[in-house]
Amino acid sequence: MRILIINGPSLNLLGVREPEIYGHNTYLDLESTLNRFAKENKLELDIHQTNYEGIVIDLLQHAHHKNYDAVLLNAAALSHYSYAIYDAIKSIRIPVIEVHLTNPKNRPETFRHISVIEPVCIKTFSGEGFNSYINALRYLLEAKS
Ligand code: DQA
Repeated sequence: MRILIINGPSLNLLGVREPEIYGHNTYLDLESTLNRFAKENKLELDIHQTNYEGIVIDLLQHAHHKNYDAVLLNAAALSHYSYAIYDAIKSIRIPVIEVHLTNPKNRPETFRHISVIEPVCIKTFSGEGFNSYINALRYLLEAKS
């Protein structure tokens, strides 16, 4: 199974960024955790991070053109307001799973309580740190078997 993973704004600063919320592990730690799981489970991962909304959309279209089996998307703050990403997900036929390290719905800022992309994603995994991604990958593995 070939899976494209897209990480949005400021996720490159994991480990530095609000460690009391996101923890001390770095973005490189996230990549190695995912790559290790992929190797153990014979998954092909292509992992990206961008701070730009348009690049998220380009990557979603890339997943479509290159026939990936699924996309894991942590759109970060863009999840809460990007109708352009909502439309981009609706425009492709690849299943997209929404992922968050934290559970935005349990956080104090009310703008995080809405995900505009949730209705067009097949599922959401949140609140489990790196395991949100692992659980999403497990879900895809189980769905395939
Ligand atoms: C996040 C949650 C979002 O609300 C926030 O803007 C992020 C990270 C998460 O992974 O928990 O940047 O997507």
